[in-house]
Amino acid sequence: MIAALFLILASSILPFTLVFSQTLPTYPGARDGEWELLHASVGISAMHMQLLNNNKVVMFDRTDFGPSNLSLPDGRCRYDPSDNALKVDCTAHSILYDIGTNTFRALTVQTDTWCSSGAVLPDGSLIQTGGYNDGDHVIRSFTPCTDENCDWIEFPRHLTERRWYASNQILPDGRIIIVGGRRQFNYEFYSQIQQDSTSSYPGTFRLNFLLQTVDPSENNLYPFLHLLPDGNLFIFANTQSILFDYRHNRVVKEFPRIPGDDPRNYPSSGSSVLLPLNENNGNVVAEIMVCGGAPREGFLQAMQFGSFTHTLSTCGRLNVSDENPNWVMEDMPIARVMGDMLLLPNGDVIIINGAGRGTAGWENGRDPVREPVIYRPSAASDQRFYVMSASPKPRLYHSSAILLPDGRVLVGAAGYSLIRPVITSVNEVVSHGEFFTVTFTVPEYLTVEAISVRIIAPSFTTHAFSMNQRMVVLRLIAVSHLTKCTYSATVVGPSTAEIAPPGYYMLFVVHAGIPSSAGMWVKVQ
Ligand SMILES: *[C@@H]1O[C@H](CO)[C@@H](O)[C@H](O)[C@H]1NC(C)=O
Ligand SMILES: *[C@@H]1O[C@H](CO)[C@@H](O)[C@H](O)[C@H]1NC(C)=O
Repeated sequence: MIAALFLILASSILPFTLVFSQTLPTYPGARDGEWELLHASVGISAMHMQLLNNNKVVMFDRTDFGPSNLSLPDGRCRYDPSDNALKVDCTAHSILYDIGTNTFRALTVQTDTWCSSGAVLPDGSLIQTGGYNDGDHVIRSFTPCTDENCDWIEFPRHLTERRWYASNQILPDGRIIIVGGRRQFNYEFYSQIQQDSTSSYPGTFRLNFLLQTVDPSENNLYPFLHLLPDGNLFIFANTQSILFDYRHNRVVKEFPRIPGDDPRNYPSSGSSVLLPLNENNGNVVAEIMVCGGAPREGFLQAMQFGSFTHTLSTCGRLNVSDENPNWVMEDMPIARVMGDMLLLPNGDVIIINGAGRGTAGWENGRDPVREPVIYRPSAASDQRFYVMSASPKPRLYHSSAILLPDGRVLVGAAGYSLIRPVITSVNEVVSHGEFFTVTFTVPEYLTVEAISVRIIAPSFTTHAFSMNQRMVVLRLIAVSHLTKCTYSATVVGPSTAEIAPPGYYMLFVVHAGIPSSAGMWVKVQ
């Protein structure tokens, strides 16, 4: 249960296309990535992770699994008569990890956060919703601070419904939509205004789609949510998906079922991403990708008979910008359940963690898949996937992974600067639709070509799904050569709040497929 923290150097060292790999120096093991152990143990399990805009990562697990391996500071204890495991608990179930110093400190959660969800508000505060038992109606907030004093603040009974295995998405107007959860066929909103006034609670809105997609194993938990450029939500549960207008509680469109009748959501946990939104080619096209999962009977087979079925090797890609899209299926080199899918700064997708047999759920996974796989969305169809080097440790149920500002992937369970561009200045605030410039350096001996400027929203990751993750490739107007190795790129802020809801994003300059050595935090508003 206790997590070691690992990093994989992934995005930093991948030549993007064959053309560029010839003009760039090649590195030993360039395709392998490299694993680095940060901490043999952080005392808790990194079941849920969120990167904040001060380069600290909030991690937490659950309170009802006995003591963790990290004491609360100053002899503090948690007294919780309704906890299922410990009424008095002097250990932590949450930490704040500092990327820069590779240190962490204990945080205090009072009520049970098991299998909950979250999103970051435009002001940079993490809002976490629900959990289990006495935590299932709780909203918690964590606001980043510059000293060592910030901690969780809990708002009991603030959720209208119990939210256990729900998914969240930040919306263009700064509210958060909270969808589903176990036996919850509905959604509700978090709004800061309502939160502050005790008199008005947001209501609940029925969503029959969640009832239609329930099967005996409840393979529709942690539904995949993606906010689309047209302002609607894409919701995927089990094998089905809809285009949903949350403002009017209306299903706009039902998409075809993903081929194969195998479920993709918890406990048959596959994963999903919204592929990068590119503002440079006229209309912004939105494509959804769903990878991995387990056969329909997988969970019951594991629970009832201790038999661990082979997992799915298929991915489906759906062009939701198309009037009548169909799933285009592809085969991963390795079958996997509980794989995390993350967008890397150069637009590639990494699929990492998980198992080759079984499903999600306690002790239901077998045959850990230690090798991450890279998917290159715009490569020729037979050259999209490749396999990276194996992790020293298996990462099964309750592992998570997030992208860090320096392009590395942190696995809950390394500095790199070869020829990566370096951003030397960028605005702290980026306005929707407005021009701004980014200056950066590229070593003199390289010809500058294929420059792009991208923003990535940090994800709330749990149970193989990274909520709120999105990348926008900004519209590039011009690149000018300033001095020997300094350039400036003029770009346009994301055109709408539907394409990029307000809030903090990591901005990267990508040169010939290689992202800048550090992503810079910008606030989109
Ligand atoms: C954490 O684990 C170590 C090694 O097993 C042990 O010595 C230590 O007492 C544990 N700490 C807590 C707070 O459980
Ligand atoms: C997605 O559909 C749109 C609208 O039909 C089309 O313009 C675009 O080329 C499609 N994208 C891909 C990758 O197929």
